[in-house]
Amino acid sequence: MLPILLDYLRCPVTKEKLNLTVFKNGTKEYNGTEHEIILDGYLESSVMFYPVINGIPRLLVEAYKDYKEFLSANVSDYAARCEKIEAQYGDLIKVVEKKNRHTKKSFEIEWNLFNYEEDKVWDEDREGMLLRFIAENDETREGLNGQWILDAGCGNGMLNEDVASTGANIIGMDFSLSVERAFEKNKQATAFFIQGDVQFPPVAFNTFDIVHSSGVLICTNNSELTFSCLSPCLKENGKMSIWLYHPVKGFIHNLFNWMRNWTSKLPLRLQYFLYSITLLPISFIVKRIKGNKQNKREMMIDILDWFSPEFRWEHYHDEAEAWFLKRNFHQIKVTTNELFGFNIIGTKRAQ
Ligand SMILES: C[S@@+](CC[C@H](N)C(=O)[O-])C[C@H]1O[C@@H](n2cnc3c(N)ncnc32)[C@H](O)[C@@H]1O
Repeated sequence: MLPILLDYLRCPVTKEKLNLTVFKNGTKEYNGTEHEIILDGYLESSVMFYPVINGIPRLLVEAYKDYKEFLSANVSDYAARCEKIEAQYGDLIKVVEKKNRHTKKSFEIEWNLFNYEEDKVWDEDREGMLLRFIAENDETREGLNGQWILDAGCGNGMLNEDVASTGANIIGMDFSLSVERAFEKNKQATAFFIQGDVQFPPVAFNTFDIVHSSGVLICTNNSELTFSCLSPCLKENGKMSIWLYHPVKGFIHNLFNWMRNWTSKLPLRLQYFLYSITLLPISFIVKRIKGNKQNKREMMIDILDWFSPEFRWEHYHDEAEAWFLKRNFHQIKVTTNELFGFNIIGTKRAQ
């Protein structure tokens, strides 16, 4: 992590500023220049502590358990710290672990398939993704310059590098390990990556010009609740931008949604195997007949994205509009409307 990122990070549980202890510094090349970065260390608030491993702050509520090996080897009072956390937040930790376990893993498998050199993201090449981002957010390339953006649920993070190339500062956050390759591949100094949960955003409130969350709320346990957890990160007059699935009429669509109610509960490796011998060949034939040139990895990512997350909610446009209105947003509008979903934005009113 670059040291400047620390100013924007907060404890996801207590919202306190975090103190950093560094174990190891390193360098990373950004825009052709070597930069000093913090490779390994840990961040702490009054009770909680979170590792920084291979340059990435791991700011999940449950990070002290996920990264037990790293922390117990490097923090001498690891066990005592865990006891203190569990005495104060034991119930919370249980709820969060249960909430995240399945979906964290399912997206890790999905993004592990992605080939940064060859694959398109949701059928778009890099320029297409950036143009889509600009349209979704009702921005211009020039308008993004200097803005602070939180990309909540950044996935493979490739878009973040291109958004940063416009001069924007963008914190890409995901709870899956997709942030590891996102960080490794990124060459823009203003594209930052953290591991974090959209329901416990580990960043400062009242800070961001744009909070963008594309295809994420709909795979959490409650889309509107997640909206509520993210919106405080915006500063006054900041823009919230969310992409959601909407209901689609059609037998196949509804059959798939019915099927996923069952298949998404199966062990993830078994799901992967099942889909690769059933849905993948069918999808390959149908897409080729329709002239779609997606490669097999891209098809499998689409299939996993539909079938493997624990949740997949669909929302009507007016329903999402109400989320904004209830929270005193204005300038609410649908910016893009596609077959499977839509993007909607709103501006947070000044108090
Ligand atoms: C469908 S993908 C979309 C990724 C990216 N926004 C895009 O448009 O390409 C959903 C992403 O949300 C992330 N995600 C789901 N639930 C999350 C949570 N509670 N906290 C953080 N990320 C989450 C997943 O790991 C996954 O990378």
